[in-house]
Amino acid sequence: MSPNPLAESDLTPRVMLRRLRTRCLGRAYEFLPACASTNDVARARAAAGAAEGFVIVADSQSAGRGRLGRSWHSPPGQNLYLSLLLRPALPARQVAPLTLLAGAALARTLTAAGVTPRLHWPNDLLVPAAGEFRKAAGILTEMATSGEEVRHVVVGIGLNVNGQEFPPDLAQRATSLRLALGRACDRAKLLVDFLAAFEPIYGDFLVRGPAAGLQEWRRHADLGRVCRIDRDGARVEGIATDIDDSGALLVRDDAGRMHRIASGEMSEQAGG
Ligand code: BTN
Repeated sequence: MSPNPLAESDLTPRVMLRRLRTRCLGRAYEFLPACASTNDVARARAAAGAAEGFVIVADSQSAGRGRLGRSWHSPPGQNLYLSLLLRPALPARQVAPLTLLAGAALARTLTAAGVTPRLHWPNDLLVPAAGEFRKAAGILTEMATSGEEVRHVVVGIGLNVNGQEFPPDLAQRATSLRLALGRACDRAKLLVDFLAAFEPIYGDFLVRGPAAGLQEWRRHADLGRVCRIDRDGARVEGIATDIDDSGALLVRDDAGRMHRIASGEMSEQAGG
């Protein structure tokens, strides 16, 4: 297949700083052709004093990682791998909703790009492809604390933009925007649009709390389904009814008991 120029959209600071529409997010910006993990680069830059809103983007990652020790497939020239550094002046216990708020901004961005995204608690974004919903993006949020206070938060996002082939273990579960839309997408535009979507959601979170952002997350979420949660060797089965104001999942089991799940992995049950 001939290379599509949009897949090569320019992610360098020279171009990106002109295209940005944000006041803070991405105003400090770095692009690397390759790195191990953008989350690791962001953490190192944070330790060296990088400011809130710093964004690092890599064209490829050799050790991109996801939640629960998984790796993130990160070939060059196709997708978006980015990490955003935040320094919210909040107690550490209040930052959990940030993953969901970033998901809401990503869903807003992809809706504008022409797909119908579905958010899957806590950090997955799925899009319709091959007659079902498949994962096109994941969010990995990592935090450094000092006592009760946050030193920094790194929100890492992997978005499969123009990739069309996946390793065998992902082939039945992963997809990309290109496969969903039937056309290549401009990675730089998606990045600029995501930062423009996230900035007001994050600003509102800092001033008023997470309610509005979580409401936007709910509008795109696959709640109301039968699910199974595995956490710390224990299993909860039931209906994923809602999230609470900290972003924890609320699951009602067959006996009508409610379970609050702050972290874990949600799988859909057959027939759910
Ligand atoms: C997941 O689905 O489990 C989260 C995947 C997050 C992947 C992104 S790619 C950019 C950033 N750097 C990483 O090493 N991981 C995140």
